[in-house]
Amino acid sequence: MTRTVYVNGEYLPEHEAKVSIFDRGFLMADGVYEVTSVLGGKLIDFEGHAKRLARSLSELEIRKPMEDEALLEIHRELVARNDIDEGMIYLQITRGAPNDRDFVFPPEETEPTVVLFTQSKPGLADSPAAKEGIKVISIPDIRWGRRDIKTVQLLYPSMGKMMARAAGADDAWMVEEGAVTEGTSNNAYIVKGNTIITRQLSHEILHGITRAAVLRFAREAQMKVEERAFTIEEAQQADEAFITSASTFVMPVVEIDGAQVGQGAPGPVANRLREIYIEESRKAAI
Ligand code: PDD
Repeated sequence: MTRTVYVNGEYLPEHEAKVSIFDRGFLMADGVYEVTSVLGGKLIDFEGHAKRLARSLSELEIRKPMEDEALLEIHRELVARNDIDEGMIYLQITRGAPNDRDFVFPPEETEPTVVLFTQSKPGLADSPAAKEGIKVISIPDIRWGRRDIKTVQLLYPSMGKMMARAAGADDAWMVEEGAVTEGTSNNAYIVKGNTIITRQLSHEILHGITRAAVLRFAREAQMKVEERAFTIEEAQQADEAFITSASTFVMPVVEIDGAQVGQGAPGPVANRLREIYIEESRKAAI
């Protein structure tokens, strides 16, 4: 089946969808994105993603091209047209395509470019990786200083994943001034006893939508949450570690820089949080 994608007001077969070579996203990574997961053909945490999108656009002074209702409609239309049961929807909005390359922002009336496409991932909720846990390595965090804005500048995270792969691991945790910021495309956590520890929100990390939901569920389940930075050494000695994101939900981490975390297998807290997150998200999906 040919995938139907959305570009600037049109639903098209993927090979017919085109964006200008002058698009600011292409030339300058001048754009923002969101990834929303789909379970049972419904959207998880759509409202949170729409809110963060609006904030990212506003921080970069990119015009918000449509209301949330219209965005929701496009998400739903793509899910239906591509018959998505489990997977993700990728959305990208750039500052648009002026007539030439210029560092200066284009004129006000330049239409932002809007692209959405689906990624079918059958078995997303029942991932084999979640049963085994993943291995991470640490790498220095050399990204820019506004990581709270979800921009499409993903070269370093992409290189980080390749460094992990070269080291026989699955992903990388980034470290700045001795403390873990976050994973290449996810938020990072450790567990000590009944306490979940994850870095506090700031410009240094992306304010994960999954993070917000998972911390809420954790508190509701009487777990303690400490929002503070932690080091790789502390993480290696923790009882458990895990990551969260729209595409992995809650994913146990069982090895950090070659050192086994806890028993070297997914721990009860990560497993429980994954279960609760998926269950509650399914209930609230729209
Ligand atoms: N990544 N931190 C970074 C750097 C991320 O890129 C992401 C998401 C997260 C988790 O955010 P959320 O829970 O809202 O997905 C944290 C997406 C999934 C991606 O780039 O594919």
